[in-house]
Amino acid sequence: MKFGDFPKAGSLDGVAGFRDYMTSLGLDMPCDDVVESGPASPLAAGLDVDGMQVGNRLGINPMEGWDCEADGRPSENAKRRWQRFGESGAKLIWGGEACAVRPDGRANPRQLVMAEHTQAGIAEMREGLVTAHRDAAGDDRGLVIGLQLTHSGRFCKPHDNRRFESIIAYHHPVLDRKFGVPADRAPISDDEIKRLVEDYVTAAKRARACGFDFVDIKHCHGYLGHEFLSAITRPGPYGGSLENRTRFLSEIVAGIRAEAPGLKIGVRISAIDTVPYRPDPTRSEPGALGPGIPEDYPVPYDYGFGVDRDDPLRYDLTEPVALFEILRRLDVRFVNISIASPYYNPHYIRPALYPPSDGYAPPEDPFIGVMRHIAVVRDLKRAHPDFCLMGSGYTYLQEFFPNVAQAVVRQGFCDIVGLGRMVLSYPELPLDILHGRGLKKKRLCRTFSDCTTAPRNGMVSGCYPLDAHYKKSEEFKTLARVKKPVASA
Ligand SMILES: Cc1cc2nc3c(=O)[nH]c(=O)nc-3n(C[C@H](O)[C@H](O)[C@H](O)COP(=O)(O)O)c2cc1C
Ligand code: SF4
Repeated sequence: MKFGDFPKAGSLDGVAGFRDYMTSLGLDMPCDDVVESGPASPLAAGLDVDGMQVGNRLGINPMEGWDCEADGRPSENAKRRWQRFGESGAKLIWGGEACAVRPDGRANPRQLVMAEHTQAGIAEMREGLVTAHRDAAGDDRGLVIGLQLTHSGRFCKPHDNRRFESIIAYHHPVLDRKFGVPADRAPISDDEIKRLVEDYVTAAKRARACGFDFVDIKHCHGYLGHEFLSAITRPGPYGGSLENRTRFLSEIVAGIRAEAPGLKIGVRISAIDTVPYRPDPTRSEPGALGPGIPEDYPVPYDYGFGVDRDDPLRYDLTEPVALFEILRRLDVRFVNISIASPYYNPHYIRPALYPPSDGYAPPEDPFIGVMRHIAVVRDLKRAHPDFCLMGSGYTYLQEFFPNVAQAVVRQGFCDIVGLGRMVLSYPELPLDILHGRGLKKKRLCRTFSDCTTAPRNGMVSGCYPLDAHYKKSEEFKTLARVKKPVASA
């Protein structure tokens, strides 16, 4: 398969052409013909989120840049990224970026860390976002900002970008094989989990002191919190039943409620954790990645979440729906929904036409991936309408993002539409939509995946093709060399 086998968004003939193409794919994609602007438009409507007044329905999903100082303090690049999140005019900043609760839990040696020596820098970075928001949007009314707290678990790389130092919740036959986890590696012990819970609580207290409205206890993308959700085979109090698999989360929430009263708590989950993928070796040629196919996996599949045990390529929201009952008991009222993991099935989490260098060519039209995100959030919202849900995975919609975003909010499929990659290339898109200014098409993210390829090859992340700040950097040349074999496909 070569890139471009699927029609590009820009080649579709307006909204009518987009609709026709969605129909041809069998997708019931919500899409409004006309996008309204001004204060009465659906995307401009305010919302009460667990007592916080959020000024509109556009949010920014967390995105790190693999670019902090070696000791975990924010760098100039990180501060710039947060400023651009603020300039966007979106009113819910969900997490900013993954912030490790301790240094050995980092996913890369340049990840943001919450600690005594980083706290002032993180507070300053948050303030920079608020100032940029005021300058761009006129004021900061309705701006709500959270910090995403994480431990990277299986994907820890705290010292060397080329070497995993995995902390696992349990042995996963496919992921252990794929990422080289030795059979004699002991999973994190129950006692170590208790100490880690304390680290989360300490980090949350610091986040509150920095002025954050909420913390997100990250449970997505294959990192430790998420791995607990699939720890069916783990013995003891943190594995087996859903109750046990959410004990880590429950203990963190209880600790934060006790020690950081008033701080709100949200959770970002990957509602589907399905089997890992790899490029099809029979259709990979030198310099070209084959389309993704599932790795060999055992059935029944006791290593997933939100999937059918007997056919884990099919999703099944029974457990995610049940998870919401546990969240309700914990009084967690707002949830950000993502899907799968960037490490082992990236086409689910970030529908894209061009794969990252360690990925595979898309095995399905990426619009199918966008619709999966929308449908999962819609179904969870129907099951639990009293929760506030923020969605993910919209960037691939490109010029049709405003039409779809307005439709999903208007139809009540989702409360807040979250943007990821699109904000790296085109941060002012939300304000352009809200003010009816028309889209700057040259700034739309075309899902080239350079913001993933760069960090996978030891460089900082950023929108190299469309953001001049990165395009003129030395690393742009290195990236071009790394990409050459893939780009020649
Ligand atoms: C460069 C980059 C960094 C990311 N970092 C994070 C992160 O720190 N935490 C997180 O939960 N998701 C992270 N994500 C995932 C995004 O939040 C989002 O879910 C994903 O990009 C899909 O949304 P989109 O289609 O709007 O890009 C990252 C994505 C990218 C491209
Ligand atoms: S590098 Fe830029 S254009 Fe490419 S996927 Fe990332 S944000 Fe989009």
